[in-house]
Amino acid sequence: MNATMLSEQTKHIPVMLSQILSIVSPQHGGVFIDCTFGGGGYSKAILKYPNTKILALDRDKLTKHFANVLIKKFPKRFKFFQNKFSNLNNIIDSNLRPRAIIFDLGLSSFQLSDSNRGFSFGSKNSISMEMGINKYSAYEVVNNLDKQYLANIIKVLGEEKNGKIIANKIANYRNKKEIKTSEELTSIINKAKKNYNKYKKNPATKTFQAIRIFVNQELTELVLGLIMSTKLLSKGGILLVVSFHSLEDRIVKNFFNLYSNLNNNPSRYLPLKKKSNLFELPFKKALIPGENEIYQNIRSRSAKLRYAIRNNNSFFYPEEFKKKFQNYFNMEEIKL
Ligand SMILES: C[S@@+](CC[C@H](N)C(=O)[O-])C[C@H]1O[C@@H](n2cnc3c(N)ncnc32)[C@H](O)[C@@H]1O
Repeated sequence: MNATMLSEQTKHIPVMLSQILSIVSPQHGGVFIDCTFGGGGYSKAILKYPNTKILALDRDKLTKHFANVLIKKFPKRFKFFQNKFSNLNNIIDSNLRPRAIIFDLGLSSFQLSDSNRGFSFGSKNSISMEMGINKYSAYEVVNNLDKQYLANIIKVLGEEKNGKIIANKIANYRNKKEIKTSEELTSIINKAKKNYNKYKKNPATKTFQAIRIFVNQELTELVLGLIMSTKLLSKGGILLVVSFHSLEDRIVKNFFNLYSNLNNNPSRYLPLKKKSNLFELPFKKALIPGENEIYQNIRSRSAKLRYAIRNNNSFFYPEEFKKKFQNYFNMEEIKL
């Protein structure tokens, strides 16, 4: 997809924007880090307030097209880095004291509709599924990865109970012919699912999710992104995440619960562990979009917004959290 097609073909509607603005209150000015710039929906809305500055990141080089517009319009107030948010610490000055760090996870509408990347089921182009700055593509994963590993990835990262059957079908197919397109992969998966035409969603949905997450290391990126952000925030700084599926939300929820005021007192017989938290949590429950937003932007229907406010405690490395999700890191050790 080239730059003109990017803006003409699709529009990415920012999800839960009004809730986000009311949480981060840009009217008071300050520095904001937009970790998932995409089409720049959040950055643009924040820059409308005069005393704000944005440092934005995105791993996808095509987002530079949207970033350039803001660089031109706000040369002193907007900076863009094509990088992954797990590298936040190498990019952002540790004395910056941002007012908020914002994550809007998953894919943008531009990426989803870019047939060259093969995120969608019917794509007839080569199956890549890369967001940008990747170690391997979906093509390499489905054609080369050991059958057992593939089954495990589909089961764990797709929460697909038929992981083994699907991996077997993929292995049988690729023994005869390489899998080149997403359309081909969809058809192989559908054949592995019983009564596949009775599903409400495309039966390949969970397997596609798994392969996409694996190719982009999305869950380990999130674990590291949360840790790096916490290190950068100082008292009162807000960490805010919009997630779109249960695996992402589980990570965010666990992180906030483990290191917030709500998890201070495991037993009333134990002394209070005052210094073991890093956040104040205004709500335990996730916020969700209203009916009106879902009606206007169907993509928002699975969104969950969680945020936490950094307290005064010095940063410590959240070992317990990292350990909880260590299996995702182990899965990535596989060599292709
Ligand atoms: C849902 S879109 C963000 C949309 C944006 N909030 C807007 O309103 O236009 C998610 C973006 O995050 C980027 N992204 C995903 N994982 C990333 C990571 N680990 N590091 C940096 N960018 C990432 C994707 O490339 C994509 O452009």
